[in-house]
Amino acid sequence: MSTKPTTTIRIDPDVKKRANEVFDDIGISMSAAINTFLKAVDREGSMPFEIKGCRPQPAFSNANARLNNAFIVKKDEFYTQYEDVEKEMLNHQEQLKGKAILCNCDDPFESAFFRFFVIHFNSIGLASLTSTCYAESSLAGLEYPLEGRSNAYKAVVKKVPDDSLVRPDGSLDLESLFDMPENHLEHLSGNGDFRSDECKTLLQESDIVATNPPFSLFRDFIDMLKDHEKDFIILGNMNATTAKEIFPLFRDNKVWYGESIRSGDRKFFVPDSYPLNATGCGIDENGKRYIRVKGVRWFTNLNTSRSLQPLKLECTYNNNDYPKYENYNAIEVGRTQNIPVDYDGIMGVPITFLDKYDPSQFEIVMLANGNARTNVSPKTLTDVKYRLHPNDKGGVGIINGKRVYARIFIRRKSS
Ligand SMILES: C[S@@+](CC[C@H](N)C(=O)[O-])C[C@H]1O[C@@H](n2cnc3c(N)ncnc32)[C@H](O)[C@@H]1O
Repeated sequence: MSTKPTTTIRIDPDVKKRANEVFDDIGISMSAAINTFLKAVDREGSMPFEIKGCRPQPAFSNANARLNNAFIVKKDEFYTQYEDVEKEMLNHQEQLKGKAILCNCDDPFESAFFRFFVIHFNSIGLASLTSTCYAESSLAGLEYPLEGRSNAYKAVVKKVPDDSLVRPDGSLDLESLFDMPENHLEHLSGNGDFRSDECKTLLQESDIVATNPPFSLFRDFIDMLKDHEKDFIILGNMNATTAKEIFPLFRDNKVWYGESIRSGDRKFFVPDSYPLNATGCGIDENGKRYIRVKGVRWFTNLNTSRSLQPLKLECTYNNNDYPKYENYNAIEVGRTQNIPVDYDGIMGVPITFLDKYDPSQFEIVMLANGNARTNVSPKTLTDVKYRLHPNDKGGVGIINGKRVYARIFIRRKSS
């Protein structure tokens, strides 16, 4: 029995219900969520997030207010560091060669993606580079305001001079680039939303999409790439992996993580108005504000770039260390490195298993989270001998009457 004291708190029943739905999705209990929050308060010595009212937003009269709204409300404005783009893309040079690249969430004057592809245009041998900018982006038009209508524009590059485009101060000589008759910079007729018809036409004309799309629209973004059967290498958060639109792509080996990020956090630049009140935030030596984000991964379907290495397994199965779920015919493996070398049945492993996943070694069967009952096919649920449990909140694995975290069910492939 737990020796921790029980605490009673009053919660609005509607709020409780809605919050519980979110926790079910993630596969954690409300108690675990509240404990996580209290530990963060303890660790940081303050509220671990900004507390804001939820009044209707006023009309924005100036760029700064618009900027604030975009950052704080949507948290979509995290700008990727050049080093992170370079480290990943250099792994895919063979795939990129001769291809038309689209960066469809990228102000060409701010984006590290645009910068990387322009600098490496000739050495990789790209066919073209197109970058579109979203009018609502907080940085749109700040660096290079185009005269006239909105701040949504596209940059199309088909030729890059052989001489270095990088000036001594590190900036790109974009004037020379867009002076070349093959290249152009022009307004879009709409706002540059990647879902707009004109942006979809650009998508249609491209071979590979490379960007860091807005986090809040990550699923829509992947859906669109899937519908258009496009190759891509995009930055996202591993939380997105468990979404019902995305997990089947991992299961069916249509998407996997890129090469360069497998752990830790990444630094992203944020605009000047972004509140720096969380751990790991700061201002760098150039005065640029940054935050650190955990769980960032490259999501890709670029085929030849995938390097696979079977996991070296050292543990052996015993029923004390690997209890069976009460609602599935599968064993719980709390850490990927502890997958038993000699167990041939179904095993529940953490989501981080995907960092090590080699499809020649294991098959992914399903995701056991709070949506398993609705998202997993009846046949698979029968195969894994799923039994409805009163506490499983949609299909989370149960051990000793308690829900565990969301788990990926895997099975060893016969050699
Ligand atoms: C996470 S930021 C990344 C920016 C840039 N790709 C980078 O990596 O530095 C996402 C960008 O997408 C823009 N954005 C937000 N919603 C969009 C939409 N519906 N269509 C196109 N871009 C959008 C944001 O304004 C922001 O500039």
